[in-house]
Amino acid sequence: MIHRPRILRASASIRKMVQETILQPHHLMAPLFIVEGENIEEEISSLPGYYRRSLDKTLEEVSVLYELGIRSVLLFIKCPDHKKDNAGTEALFEDGLMQTSIRAIRKHLPEMLIMTDVALDPYSSYGHDGIVKDQEIVNDLTVDVLAKMAVSHAAAGAHFVAPSDMMDGRIAALRQSLENAGFHNTGIMSYSAKYASCFYGPFRDALDSAPGFGDKKTYQMNPANRIEAVKEVLLDVSEGADIVMVKPALSYLDIIREVKNTTHIPVSAYHVSGEYAMIKAAAQKGWLNEDQAILETTLSIKRAGADLIATYFTKDIVRILNNA
Ligand code: PBG
Repeated sequence: MIHRPRILRASASIRKMVQETILQPHHLMAPLFIVEGENIEEEISSLPGYYRRSLDKTLEEVSVLYELGIRSVLLFIKCPDHKKDNAGTEALFEDGLMQTSIRAIRKHLPEMLIMTDVALDPYSSYGHDGIVKDQEIVNDLTVDVLAKMAVSHAAAGAHFVAPSDMMDGRIAALRQSLENAGFHNTGIMSYSAKYASCFYGPFRDALDSAPGFGDKKTYQMNPANRIEAVKEVLLDVSEGADIVMVKPALSYLDIIREVKNTTHIPVSAYHVSGEYAMIKAAAQKGWLNEDQAILETTLSIKRAGADLIATYFTKDIVRILNNA
């Protein structure tokens, strides 16, 4: 026998020495759901162990994450129903909850990278990512609003704006608007290959943002398509994206690898709410070892080619890595 691959698996020390994929806290982005009010920390029923928080509680959480080595947060706002409309008006106010939160986090912990969700659905009375006219999600009008939203986030101090809407041409429009407004140092993380997925269900519960009519298939991608993801990513790179994202993660590991092999900029993946819920539910039933499932799935996303991972498991992952 010439080749004995088991030699490299013989002990924990050897396995560690030759381990190819390394997960570290600063590879993780923590999504945070912010609500109006004070002293609020409410568990999201379809995301057990995950919370909507008012800004004061969010600041505490940001400190906890930073202590653990997490260096970026991805902010989402829950907008009350009476402030929603078709144009996303509430999203643009200088003293809106997103803008106020960005300023507060920057002041509280300047080293934490703030990435902000740029999309209309949390603010839309239709629960869609764009302006609706005659049941259609109108592209160019929506892009104008998204560009204004991005500039208002940059003005408040966001390090990266993260458009999650899948409208055409929005990266170019955002970059141009940021430049025109003098925000040359604000980055763009684009949700480039975002699929029309059933795995967003718990997130829509968290923000009460489920579409009121139809679905998102005229803008989010068909799960059957791979080559189209490359097209979307290359467009976003040419339009000025700094980081591209594939979303969801687990059912799309092949897409993550494809994108990693095609681009020369950092690739992120979003391990989405439904993927979190699946692991939680199976663990609650005693059907899976939760920690092992968390580590294995997160490693697989990194191994597939994601440099950065947005996940609701950030704190668990750091705890598991520290105990390993
Ligand atoms: C919408 C948005 C969604 C998510 C992030 N931004 C849901 C959707 O497209 O309906 C989902 C994230 C998750 O499921 O964890 N702009």
